[in-house]
Amino acid sequence: MPDIDPASKSMEAIVALCKRRGFVYPASEIYGGINGFWDYGPLGTALKNNIRDHWWKQTVECPPIGPDGEPVSIVGLDSSIIQNPKVWEASGHVGGFNDPMVDDTETKKRYRADHVWVRRAAGTDGKDVLVAIVLGSREEADAAWSHFDKTEKLPDQLRSELSKALKKFIDGAKFYEDMPLSYLDVSDEERVIVFGQHASKPGTLTEPREFNLMFETFVGAIRDASSKAYLRPETAQGIFLNYKNVVDTMRVKMPFGIAQVGKSFRNEVTPRNFIFRSREFEQMEMEWFCAPDDSPKWYDFWKHERMRWWESLGVSNSNLRFRDHDDDELAHYSKMCVDIEYKYPFTAPGFGELEGVAHRGCYDLTQHQTHSKQKLEYFDQERQVQGQKDGLSKDEINAQSKYIPNVIEPASGLTRGVLVLLTEAYTPDESRPSKVYMKFKPKFAPIKAGIFPLVNKDGMPQVAQKLYMGLREKFACQLDAKQSIGKRYARMDEAGTPYCFTIDGDTLADQTVTVRDRDSQAQERINIDQVEKFLAEKIGE
Ligand code: GAP
Repeated sequence: MPDIDPASKSMEAIVALCKRRGFVYPASEIYGGINGFWDYGPLGTALKNNIRDHWWKQTVECPPIGPDGEPVSIVGLDSSIIQNPKVWEASGHVGGFNDPMVDDTETKKRYRADHVWVRRAAGTDGKDVLVAIVLGSREEADAAWSHFDKTEKLPDQLRSELSKALKKFIDGAKFYEDMPLSYLDVSDEERVIVFGQHASKPGTLTEPREFNLMFETFVGAIRDASSKAYLRPETAQGIFLNYKNVVDTMRVKMPFGIAQVGKSFRNEVTPRNFIFRSREFEQMEMEWFCAPDDSPKWYDFWKHERMRWWESLGVSNSNLRFRDHDDDELAHYSKMCVDIEYKYPFTAPGFGELEGVAHRGCYDLTQHQTHSKQKLEYFDQERQVQGQKDGLSKDEINAQSKYIPNVIEPASGLTRGVLVLLTEAYTPDESRPSKVYMKFKPKFAPIKAGIFPLVNKDGMPQVAQKLYMGLREKFACQLDAKQSIGKRYARMDEAGTPYCFTIDGDTLADQTVTVRDRDSQAQERINIDQVEKFLAEKIGE
């Protein structure tokens, strides 16, 4: 079956399958949930761990081959979520990690001012009507637009007030794909309407205000300013804090990387689109330290390497793209940044961020050096020796061998990766009982094999049990003897299990089992003692 465009996939159906099959549940569901938090069920946890383990393996244990043909050097780390609060002052997160946000005074809803959807229609007087809907997903914007009376003529004064208001919101906004930039030039003749989703009338939005995304907590028994601390908003800072420890203890030399996977927390103004933007999420980040003059080469290397990595997970190349950040979009620490974007159902035909590859320059180490008063300079012995060989002066050698390293940072969302694999895998198929199956690349499937006795008699359960006991140490597999065989296949199709082995009457006679392929639904017979080899070959590395 050819790859299906994510644009044709329904987010609602994906979310429903995730709940039904135990991939992702709303957090605190029995208490009505809590916005921006999700729990990963048994299958979601397995899928997430598979992505995480593959990233760790390919980043730390078996890192890629660098431009010189040698494997690059990367070590792992697991730092604290809570650090000394001075860390976040030095990193710029206390002062600068803000989102602009607007409140709707009518509905009391809060929106991100830089997430604006625009819809346009011809008015009855032949002039265009321009409607800006602040915040909301594409679906919400479409729903609001469909209820809006596009023939209504606005009073002139309101029109001009709204025109000004729209310009204010649009200033510095990040626009979604389908918003033609020509709309930025709003002429006075155009009728402009700005409103928060669900508001009954336009013009009830406040001015955009800054909102810090850091979650605060208190350390120890006393709750005052001196005990205030923060949950980390990125795993990266833990790496910068341990840069010197790693240099001093691990015999690493420039260039090298430090990698970390773990939870991050952001009090997002508008968590939305399922697990795409949540308030608690997991990141897989690697800080690559290198000499400043080598940094362009490594930026280019990691950009392409990370795209290749996502493709190795089975994500279709046509659903991924690079997007360079404009200068005014760069984070406070960043010199250059390129996003690897995926075509999510809620952004399609546009794309949304999956991973950022940023050139952080020497920003973070310099900030920590200044704030902590600890020397974080690197002495590059190889450059010193090379400088001596090249006959450079002492000053020239010093200048090129003593430096604060530059950092290239491939930073991806592990939980966003889960969403991408769930979306890619989701494959509607009316011809099968489940009407849908999850086409995970076998290596990432939460369950690799289902083992079924056809009926619960004639010695079949015992043979199935023996097969299961022999496989379970090597593969995540499930023994299932309940319900009809069709229902068992349907369950495994929705779980994305690539192979199901059935023990039937013939097994007892000739020691063969049927193996059913999830994608083609084709069945073949193989010898029962070949099952392990079959799975090892199919699931591979
Ligand atoms: N250390 C750099 C950094 O944190 P970022 O672009 O803010 O950069 C990196 O985050 C990745 O983390 C993003 O590309 C995205 O995949 C993921 N991410 C960021 N905020 C998220 C959120 N609220 N929910 C889920 N994933 C998020």
